[in-house]
Amino acid sequence: MLIAVDGTAASGKGTLARHLAKQLNLRHLDTGSLYRGVGLSLLRAGFSNTDITPELAENAAKNLDFDLTGDAEIRTDAVGNMASVVAAMDPVRDALKSRQHDFTTDIPKGFDGAVLDGRDIGTVILPHADFKFFVDADPRIRAERRLKELQAQGAKTDIDAVLDQLVARDQRDMRRTIAPLKQADDAIFVDTGEKTVDEMVTFALSAMGR
Ligand code: CDP
Repeated sequence: MLIAVDGTAASGKGTLARHLAKQLNLRHLDTGSLYRGVGLSLLRAGFSNTDITPELAENAAKNLDFDLTGDAEIRTDAVGNMASVVAAMDPVRDALKSRQHDFTTDIPKGFDGAVLDGRDIGTVILPHADFKFFVDADPRIRAERRLKELQAQGAKTDIDAVLDQLVARDQRDMRRTIAPLKQADDAIFVDTGEKTVDEMVTFALSAMGR
């Protein structure tokens, strides 16, 4: 079974994907962590999002150290912004495509399939997924969730700054020409604004007939 979960920043798509993976015995890939890993490697090499070129970003994507995707620093806003800048570059998306495909074709024994969350999973990476979800919520609710996550990591920020960054990143993701963030025609829409995690998971499972 292959499931695609796409959605806006801090919408709850990662949480939904994690829960579906657990309940349905699927392996889970947070594809945003790949783009964030590329962003972090460039920031650590001293680049900023204004001086990055497609060639530099492609090189970073081709040589991405998978360990970086597990580094706590990838969750910062600075890395999120850098991720969305490099994610708009064609060679970067190409370089990360095979890693995502390999994840769904080399399913280890003991798993019944895979769930991937990101921005273009249902539209580009897994157009033939068995189930597709598109997750969204009111920007202010999403910003409040992200603020709590950032504060838990010790970041000094406030709701207005987080909301601005989140809206700017969504705009960049939706307006880019390559693999823009959009709902696939056959995706099930999940509004997580008024739903608890349990309600969101129950809704998705029942939409799948489970
Ligand atoms: O956790 P959050 O929703 O804030 O973001 P993320 O899923 O970690 O993704 C970070 C950035 O990577 C996004 O803003 C996108 O620009 C990019 N991304 C993408 O273009 N395609 C994907 N499949 C996943 C992430």
